Amino acid sequence: MNIALGTIAFGTAVDERGTFAILDRFAEAGGTMLDTANNYPFWIEGRTGDESELAIGAWLAARGNRDQVFLSTKGGARPTVPGDTTLGSAEGLSAPAVAKAVEGSLRRLGTDHIDVYWTHIEDRSVPFEETLGALNELAVAGKIRSAGASNMPTWRLERARNVSAAHGWLPYTYLQLRHTYLRPRPLTRLPESGHMLATDETLDYVRSEPDLTLWAYNTLMSGAYTRADRPIPEFYDHPGTARRLATLHEVAAELGATPNQVVLAWLLADGYVPIVGVSTMAQLDEAIGATEVKLDDELRARLDEPR
Ligand SMILES: NC(=O)c1ccc[n+]([C@@H]2O[C@H](COP(=O)([O-])OP(=O)(O)OC[C@H]3O[C@@H](n4cnc5c(N)ncnc54)[C@H](OP(=O)(O)O)[C@@H]3O)[C@@H](O)[C@H]2O)c1
Repeated sequence: MNIALGTIAFGTAVDERGTFAILDRFAEAGGTMLDTANNYPFWIEGRTGDESELAIGAWLAARGNRDQVFLSTKGGARPTVPGDTTLGSAEGLSAPAVAKAVEGSLRRLGTDHIDVYWTHIEDRSVPFEETLGALNELAVAGKIRSAGASNMPTWRLERARNVSAAHGWLPYTYLQLRHTYLRPRPLTRLPESGHMLATDETLDYVRSEPDLTLWAYNTLMSGAYTRADRPIPEFYDHPGTARRLATLHEVAAELGATPNQVVLAWLLADGYVPIVGVSTMAQLDEAIGATEVKLDDELRARLDEPR
């Protein structure tokens, strides 16, 4: 299954019992990819940011199934001042910070390696050579298997990949950005600090680089495609959105699928890995059901260019 499970809520909003049940069901359905970070959910008062990794580590230990899981975690955006709920004191991406962050994640996850290690946000105070050299050392030591850039603009990713290539280092082969079916207004500034939207240029770049895989987050807009209690974010407020929503609902009705499932199927059809955060079994089952939704060329074209 090419859907990755988002885990921000695990160990906090979803307690250990609920976390284990969701992870068990995801694994039974053929899910392997988990997305966490060394700071989830530090922005909530009273939380440290250890919680999600600890919850996953507890499940891996209980089930003894590390080899069946494709584990992705991130570093660089963990506060260094306890209680800081902003990115103001983030650890950053110096070589010592990266090495320390990875050790912390390995310990909390109870594993000796990470399948994709993401730099969570940029740290432009550190030269690429330093961060990428540190990631390469971790790869040589067997602690990370591949590297991903999260919230990095295309021009910086291209530069980073060139630096790695020039040194024969582990390159970034994964990119993680916010991306869904609705398109934002141009020049949008997101309210969530650190988040970055995929642009048309990003998608063009990903299509042209066969060794690069895009993982998309906030794919379901936190439930806003279907829930009245979740308003669609303001930066999607433009005339194209109404056409896209109408087409999405039409296609969903024709296929007997839900709009959320069509969004996920559309992302999957483009070759992206949608990350889905769930807090209930029903939400998980709806996401799993998306893998059964097949979009033929005609439906993809209609969704791509709604009239
Ligand atoms: N790289 C980054 O900077 C970054 C940033 C953000 C997220 N992420 C990753 O992406 C994952 C998902 O992100 P996200 O939580 O922002 O986005 P999301 O997947 O769009 O939203 C998840 C939330 O949407 C609701 N939901 C999920 N399925 C639903 C369904 N079928 N029907 C109705 N509502 C549904 C749930 O809300 P309730 O729980 O309230 O019911 C769920 O917690 C995270 O866990 C994380 O792994 C990465």
